[in-house]
Amino acid sequence: MSTSPVEMSPSPALRQSPFLKACRNEPTDVTPIWLMRQAGRYMPEYRAVRSRVSFLELCKDAALATEVTVTAAERLGVDAAILFADILLILEPLGFDLEFAKGEGPVIHNPVREAVDVDRVRRMEDVAPLGYVMDAVASIRSALRPSTPLIGFAGAPFTLACYAIEGGGSRHYEKAKAFMYRDPGAWDALMTILADATALYLNAQAAAGAQVLQIFDSWVGTLGPHDYRRFVQPHMRRMIAALTPGVPVIHFGTDTSTLLELQRDAGGDVIGLDWRVDLAEARGRLGPSVAVQGNLDPTVLFAPIAEIERQAARVLDQAGGRPGHIFNLGHGIMPNTPVDHVIALIEFVHERSRTRKLP
Ligand code: CP3
Repeated sequence: MSTSPVEMSPSPALRQSPFLKACRNEPTDVTPIWLMRQAGRYMPEYRAVRSRVSFLELCKDAALATEVTVTAAERLGVDAAILFADILLILEPLGFDLEFAKGEGPVIHNPVREAVDVDRVRRMEDVAPLGYVMDAVASIRSALRPSTPLIGFAGAPFTLACYAIEGGGSRHYEKAKAFMYRDPGAWDALMTILADATALYLNAQAAAGAQVLQIFDSWVGTLGPHDYRRFVQPHMRRMIAALTPGVPVIHFGTDTSTLLELQRDAGGDVIGLDWRVDLAEARGRLGPSVAVQGNLDPTVLFAPIAEIERQAARVLDQAGGRPGHIFNLGHGIMPNTPVDHVIALIEFVHERSRTRKLP
């Protein structure tokens, strides 16, 4: 790998940043905020870069990935930057033929459909094939302000398995779930390959300069608690236990209101919540051992600014000024979101949480 590993323990400026403190459940002067998919198509600067290169080319070019990551973080004034990449990149070194087709989203041309197909999925021995991601992490880390934390990320094994089996996005995940029910042994074998590869990949991102790691289990909410416990939780537990100690982990999913305790027990310092749960109630259920991240509905950003502020104030009120809340949306920013509304949200969260915390 061409990256030079940076010091694993963050500098004092990073350690004392509101985002890292909130990840550790410590009190902060201001509620930290960043937004999933903050570098994306809603932003004209991103669209300008994308007009010159394909999405995969952008992910694989460390200088361009740095440019879009840092531009978004600075323009928005958020408390953390997130690596520009995609959860599906890891599928390429495992032998999947990945394409981002125009207007269609991701397509995998050689999905796993039968138990025997799992035999041809490659194990990832080292992260060299994803070296371009670690190059981007190192480059973003050195371009960011020294006090701005950088989030590395990966997809969770279940969400990756959904793509690997369905061959793309899906509404009901019936192929993936049928595979899981039909052949639990092959399912566990596939989940093991994905979890091993992902742990290696996340640890390499931390070594290259990411201060926090977020695991996206975006589609896990399609499972009921019994299936989560049997088909997902053991793999998540083992994978999270293999991550570098001292690097906070954000465990995120959507539609997970029936799974929160099981996700917490699988691991992670911060649990990501979507807008379908009440934040105060979720915190009550999760207890004091974990912080939470969320949970404004991303479509609220299309509302007038006064309504955005009302809803953001409600989320802050539900967090109740308790330590360990990172403000975010419940899922990624949508493509046509007005940039000025996004900036208004960030300014409001900073201002309101600062005044609320004055004695
Ligand atoms: O949050 C960020 O700013 C960091 C970058 C990031 C992207 N994807 C960039 C991206 C992150 C963290 C992701 C994660 C990701 N990718 C997830 C988990 C988060 C979630 O949304 O649940 C998933 C499921 C994917 C898979 C994926 N990548 C899909 C389904 C799509 C198509 C989406 C669409 O609306 O077309 C992508 C493409 C993608 N990933 C884009 C971006 C900015 C748009 C690509 C483009 O420029 O055309």
